[in-house]
Amino acid sequence: MAPTTDAGSVADLEPAARERLAGDIWDFIAGGSGDETTLAANRAALDRITLVPHVLRDLSERHTQCELFGFRASVPVAVAPIAYHRLVHPDGEMATARAARRAGVPLTVSTMSSTSLEQVTEAGGTVWFQLYPLRDRQRTRALVRRAEDAGCAALMVTVDVPWMARRPRDIRNSFSLPPHVRAPLLGDEDGAPDARSRVPHASAVAEHTRAAFAPFTWADLAELRRATSLPLIVKGVLAPDDAVRAVEAGADGVVVSNHGGRQLDGAIPTADALGAVCEAVGGRGTVLFDSGVRSGTDVLRALACGADAVLVGRPVLWGLAVEGEAGVHRVLTLLRREFTDALGLAGCPDPAAARELAIWRRPA
Ligand SMILES: Cc1cc2nc3c(=O)[nH]c(=O)nc-3n(C[C@H](O)[C@H](O)[C@H](O)COP(=O)(O)O)c2cc1C
Repeated sequence: MAPTTDAGSVADLEPAARERLAGDIWDFIAGGSGDETTLAANRAALDRITLVPHVLRDLSERHTQCELFGFRASVPVAVAPIAYHRLVHPDGEMATARAARRAGVPLTVSTMSSTSLEQVTEAGGTVWFQLYPLRDRQRTRALVRRAEDAGCAALMVTVDVPWMARRPRDIRNSFSLPPHVRAPLLGDEDGAPDARSRVPHASAVAEHTRAAFAPFTWADLAELRRATSLPLIVKGVLAPDDAVRAVEAGADGVVVSNHGGRQLDGAIPTADALGAVCEAVGGRGTVLFDSGVRSGTDVLRALACGADAVLVGRPVLWGLAVEGEAGVHRVLTLLRREFTDALGLAGCPDPAAARELAIWRRPA
C-alpha cells in the first residue's frame, strides 16, 4: 500500500493521526489525568537517560530477538493493551493483530477491546490478554477461561485502575463512545451506565468503568495465580517492594507503568522508577516497561536500565489512525529499524548486551 505520510520516525505519525481524528477522540488518546504532569514527566525522564556506548566490539553476529514468556519476539517490544481500537479505524484490533503478527511481536488485547477476543486470536500471532478485574467475580473468572480457551499466551492483570482517574480533557468534552464502538468482552454490566451515552461534564467511559471495575488486592492476585496456569504479568507497578511482592505471589513478570500518565497524576515517571524495580526483582521475573516509548533509542534506554522489553502504546494508535494495518506495521517496523541501529551503534550484538550498558542521567 502506498504510504500516505512520510514517516521518518514514529513521532512523525503523531501530527498525521491528530489531523485525521475528531478532537474529542484525539483528546481521549493523547490526554492524561490531572494536570498531565506525569504524562509530560514520562518523556522528560526518558530524554534524561544518556547511554555510554562501547566501541571496537565484534558485531558480525547481531540480532534483536528476545524471549518473552516462551515466545521469540523479533524485538524486545510488545503492543500495550489499549481500549477501543475501532475508535480510530474501522478495522480496529483486527488490523493491529495482523500488523503485530507480521512484525513478530505480541499483541496485548484489552478487556475493553472493541473486537471479540476470539476474532483477534484467529488472526494469528501471539496474543496476551489484559484483564481488568470486574465487580462481577464470576464474569472475571469467565474472562480468564475465555482467554485460555482462545489460545492467549499470557494473562496481564492491570492493577493501577481501581477506577479511572479524572481526565480533564474527557470531562471538558463530555466524552462518550460513538455508537459503532462497544466492548463485547465487557458485556452490559448490570446497572452500569452505557459508555456511549453522553453524560454532561463527565466522561461516559469513566462512569462506565467506575461501575464495572473492582478494586483488586494482593489476596485477589493470589487467587488469580491459582486460577490460571498462563504466565501472569502484573501491569502498573512502580514501587520496588510491590514488584517483589508480585513475583513472590507467583507473577511471572511485572510492567513498570503509570498507564501513560493516565492514572495517578504526580506519579513517578516510569524511566525514574525502572532501575530500582529491576534491581529489586533481581531476575526472578520478567520486567517490562512502558509510558513514553517513542523510538528505538527509548527501547535501548529501557534495556540499559534493566528492562527485558517494552510495551508500546499511543504510537500504535497513531499508525492505526493514519493507515490501518499498514500504519501499525510501519510503527513496529520503524521501532525495529531504530532499535537495530541504536543497539549496534552502542556496541551491543544483542538485547542481552544492552542490559549491561552504562547510563548517565542528565540532571533535571
Ligand atoms: C487510549 C488508551 C487506552 C488504553 N487502554 C488501556 C487498557 O484498556 N488497559 C490497560 O491496561 N492499559 C491501557 N492503556 C495504557 C497502556 O497500556 C500503556 O500503559 C500506555 O499507553 C503507555 O503509555 P504511552 O502510550 O505514552 O507509551 C491505554 C492507554 C491509552 C492511551
